[in-house]
Amino acid sequence: MPKIIWSDKLTTGIPSIDEQHHELIELINILQDNIERGELTLAGQTLQALTEKKMAHCMHEEELLCQSGFPFYKPHKRQHESFVRECTAFYQRAQAGEHVTYKALAFVKLWMVKHIRGEDIDYANFVRRHIESGAEPVVPWHLRTLNRFFPKRGK
Ligand SMILES: [Fe+2]
Repeated sequence: MPKIIWSDKLTTGIPSIDEQHHELIELINILQDNIERGELTLAGQTLQALTEKKMAHCMHEEELLCQSGFPFYKPHKRQHESFVRECTAFYQRAQAGEHVTYKALAFVKLWMVKHIRGEDIDYANFVRRHIESGAEPVVPWHLRTLNRFFPKRGK
């Protein structure tokens, strides 16, 4: 099974996102090494590290999308949640004694590449333009409402 090789097609042009995507892809390639060498305990640990790092990355990405006022923030967030759920299920099965299999690896690889090349590239121009404009972060309506009715103490 070929490993993921970084290419321009995976580049969003947003430094923090590209850096995190690099790290995630590196972990996926390490996971593949673990499985191919039969180091299945290590594969379980790598899958856990990947799931945790992906969760942190999703939070960062979602914050950027929200602050930029990206209109498809919610569907994007739902995609992340679905991926993390699947990864967690694979990881829990590994913890319960099942071997991390090529099925888990194939899922993670396919999802990541498809998501970066599709949905992530789709938001890249929008978010980049917002960052480069120096505009204030967009505050979502529920936070504006919350702040209006329950202003922070001391303000
Ligand atoms: Fe994403």
